[in-house]
Amino acid sequence: MKKLFIFAGFLTLSLFISCTKSIEQQGVSIDTRWRFTTGDDPAWAMPAFDDSAWDSIDPKEIWESQGRSDYDGYAWYRIRVFFSSSWIENAIIKDSLQLILGKIDDCDQIFVNGELIGENGKNLKGRDESNAEFYKEQGKWNLERRYILGVHDPRIHWDKENIIAVRCFDQGGAGGMFGKNFEISMTGLKDYVKFDVISDPFTLKGENMITKNFSILNQSGTMDFKGKLLVKVIRCDNGISVYSEESAIDLTRNLSIDKSVVFKKEFTIPAVLKISFIESNSGNMITEDVEIPYILTPPTPPEPRINGAKVFGVRPWSPFLFKVAATGRPPLKYSASGLPDGLKIDPKNGLITGALKKKGEHLVMVTVENDLGFNERELKIIVGDVISLTPPMGWNSWNCWGLSVSDKKVRQSADAMKSSGLIDHGWSYVNIDDGWEDTHDKDGNILPNDKFPDMKELCNYIHSLGLKIGIYSSPGPKTCGGYEGSYMFEANDAQNYASWGIDYLKYDWCSYGNIAPKPTPEQMKYPYKEMKHAIRKANRDIHYSLCQYGMGDVWTWGAEVDGNSWRTTGDITDTWESLSEIGFNQYKCSPYSAPGRWNDPDMLVVGWVGWGPALHYTRLTPNEQYTHITLWSLLAAPLLIGCDLEQLDVFTMNLLTNDEVLTVNQDPLGKQAIQVRKTDEFEIWARKLEDGSVAVGLFNKTTKPLYIPVEMKELELDGKYSMRDLWSQTDLGKVRGHFEMKTPPHGARLVTLKGL
Ligand code: GLA
Repeated sequence: MKKLFIFAGFLTLSLFISCTKSIEQQGVSIDTRWRFTTGDDPAWAMPAFDDSAWDSIDPKEIWESQGRSDYDGYAWYRIRVFFSSSWIENAIIKDSLQLILGKIDDCDQIFVNGELIGENGKNLKGRDESNAEFYKEQGKWNLERRYILGVHDPRIHWDKENIIAVRCFDQGGAGGMFGKNFEISMTGLKDYVKFDVISDPFTLKGENMITKNFSILNQSGTMDFKGKLLVKVIRCDNGISVYSEESAIDLTRNLSIDKSVVFKKEFTIPAVLKISFIESNSGNMITEDVEIPYILTPPTPPEPRINGAKVFGVRPWSPFLFKVAATGRPPLKYSASGLPDGLKIDPKNGLITGALKKKGEHLVMVTVENDLGFNERELKIIVGDVISLTPPMGWNSWNCWGLSVSDKKVRQSADAMKSSGLIDHGWSYVNIDDGWEDTHDKDGNILPNDKFPDMKELCNYIHSLGLKIGIYSSPGPKTCGGYEGSYMFEANDAQNYASWGIDYLKYDWCSYGNIAPKPTPEQMKYPYKEMKHAIRKANRDIHYSLCQYGMGDVWTWGAEVDGNSWRTTGDITDTWESLSEIGFNQYKCSPYSAPGRWNDPDMLVVGWVGWGPALHYTRLTPNEQYTHITLWSLLAAPLLIGCDLEQLDVFTMNLLTNDEVLTVNQDPLGKQAIQVRKTDEFEIWARKLEDGSVAVGLFNKTTKPLYIPVEMKELELDGKYSMRDLWSQTDLGKVRGHFEMKTPPHGARLVTLKGL
């Protein structure tokens, strides 16, 4: 089997901690042997209680998935554990014992031998500190439960059996214990000394210089640690260390020390930053490996090149606004031959405007020139009933600004979309999410709040840049953020939007749940049909984006209510768990995607995000971000950037401006990729493209580099194909039968296969 090159010798990029003593010597795993019952009784905390009649349960999974599908309220878990004093002897740090109990949805009290030791993730010295209303506390469901006890705590019985009882309360939805980590062990260096490698992203500057700030923190309130800090940069292609630095470090209790490293490394070569602390007395070491961003997208050439959508849909009489996206050394001159009557192109900025009266199709040849030459490409204009013939590409305020969005932030984002050059790669929508609304006035007009002084003026401004503007509302009386919704004002709102010049509406179910608490399929569709009619009457092309988190398999009926896209999932966040869970589950909706009818797995979580006003750099690793953009492109998903566009860094720009990758997303055939193969370790997805070629995505779900094998038969391909790597925009030669590609941890490869 011919091995295709790429990233030989990738290192394990996941965080790993190495300690000389294993958990067996210093504690015990408690991820099995639990007993469980629903209900509530204080006697269940007591060691004398006989729980043998209770059910057994897996603490790693919520109780709903273990035969208690609709249960909300109190429930108890119990386990018996022998605490061996040899754990103390074996431990380096001999003063504390920790109980790690995964996560608990929603609230918990923990008892050891009948004594209360903690509540909702907080250690308690005794029952007096207990909060009788502990069960009302919200938002703790995703918190890792780690309770610490001093080794001399009288509530612990050394060299005897101890009874651990967990009293849970679930307020609705998923309930009980879940997660990965369940153990009782002596605390070690790794529990006190932590690296913060996330708060500050890498910065990439000229001459391949990379800077990284991080901090090292001693969380212990009683112990100081002395040792060595070792920082290395190791290339993933050959395992060679290209930078190394060693320094003595004193970690006084409760102290955090900031560090900065500056090193030289080719931006195009994957590498890891390995940070280690070696404690002098014990020789114990903790290490964290951090992926360094690497750039795959080649620089944009100075010669003119037309990018973006090749097909554009418009309804008769609707205002026409299409920006020819093109890159190349300025000034660029735009022209078009074959433009139908009613349309004109601005030679300076490539904006095609006007209106078309009749249904029909027009093939227009667009040309872009500069002093280095010219590039021409066909644009198909379809005047008909369906708009958004390629997935919308743009920005939305939610994942960065949340409810703190304002007129100023929207203008700044639009300016940045233009000045960064994103607009030249086809990015066009600037969408305001929740947080702009005030109330309806006496005539039923929706009024923006103080943060948006003049919506019409804002729309004019966005349009003047060659961009489009979107807005947000809910079919319920209130939006998810508690602002005014469109309930009973659908026609007025649609009229207002059209009169301002809105091009996109995200319509979010939210409080409609109070109007239809257990909606039938018809009730689910009803509010979306109402707004559909209102929009159609308003006589303006407004992309209609349904947002109801996939309820009732919306992909099977979204087109019926005229949705141009529909959210297929709950809200995304910037973690691998969220990204992979959402992304790889889109196979269900694949058959329902078509031009103008897109499945929407939610917005992009790259760059500076934060759901407002405070932002942080995405917690996704560089490889996870490559997976994100690769998968969303294959899924023909709307691409809505969710970050602060004023803080776009080189790596994020590299992700968002690879025209060969974006071409897959914008392919006019509009066929979403299908999941060709799924194993525990990897997935293969393939998307048929308009020119007869196939785009293939290889995804590594593990934390180690992996060779992913692909059989051409499983892609329904037979014969010889030329293969191109889209991220690096290079030809990889010819393939027949099968191929395999080395794929980085949580990373992706994206190729096209074209018949020869
Ligand atoms: C819901 C949506 C988000 C966002 C918020 C706004 O959670 O799913 O995308 O629009 O509402 O409140």
